[in-house]
Amino acid sequence: MTELELIVDFHKDAERQGPGSKEITKRAIELTGLHTSDDLKIADIGCGSGAQTLVLAKQLQGHITAVDLFPEFLEALNKNAEQAGLNDRISTLQCSMDTLPFADEQFDLLWSEGAIYIMGFEEGIQQWRHFLKPGGIIAVSEISWLTNERPEELQQYWDNAYPQIDTVSNKIKTLEQNGYSPLAHMVLPPSNWMENYYRPLAQRFEDFLNKHNYSEQAKQLIEEEKKEIQMYQQYQDYYSYGFYIAKKV
Ligand SMILES: C[S@@+](CC[C@H](N)C(=O)[O-])C[C@H]1O[C@@H](n2cnc3c(N)ncnc32)[C@H](O)[C@@H]1O
Repeated sequence: MTELELIVDFHKDAERQGPGSKEITKRAIELTGLHTSDDLKIADIGCGSGAQTLVLAKQLQGHITAVDLFPEFLEALNKNAEQAGLNDRISTLQCSMDTLPFADEQFDLLWSEGAIYIMGFEEGIQQWRHFLKPGGIIAVSEISWLTNERPEELQQYWDNAYPQIDTVSNKIKTLEQNGYSPLAHMVLPPSNWMENYYRPLAQRFEDFLNKHNYSEQAKQLIEEEKKEIQMYQQYQDYYSYGFYIAKKV
């Protein structure tokens, strides 16, 4: 198994693949200002197994195209959508977020929770902008600094993991510099990290190691996850996901 296959195998049975919550998705939907009764064209990019896709489908009318690179997550999403009776409102598309086959001005709303970092925030908002109708809305969550200064150990950890991490104000500025008008932003609370993501994740460590016969690769993956959790527990005052809602101008 490649490292990537192992990561997918570890995350595919989880309810969500990153920090977040139904409540924060609902709040972000409210902040878009979109009318819940409109027939909207929506894309959910880097959807994973679709925790937020289902909330979007319940809260808004119209059709959602849910995109992910890995078929394992899309299979889980299709199953979840069917169970919720929402499968006629959601289509899945296996595709990389940097080669999306969409037409210009196809969507009213582009959604992406915890995934735009894969392309990089600025690259993502630039490339995806074409797909939005004039006045269309983008809503993305992105890892962000909550303070202007931070401990050196934390700075180094994130410089290594994702050098585009930046302050909330700089993320907003990046939106402004790339043809968006910011409408709102908020910060994910600790419960969205610990209760909804890291605790369920940690509960799967032992089963996962067993399943992979304690291979060196599996052990290394779990060590990296443990380090990530430890960093969050120690330094949660300094970073979180910012949720950014902006309008195409
Ligand atoms: C941190 S997870 C977030 C998933 C989901 N939005 C959530 O919040 O639970 C990032 C997602 O991006 C997907 N992904 C990774 N590389 C991708 C790519 N190049 N194109 C599209 N999706 C990708 C992963 O498979 C994963 O589902």
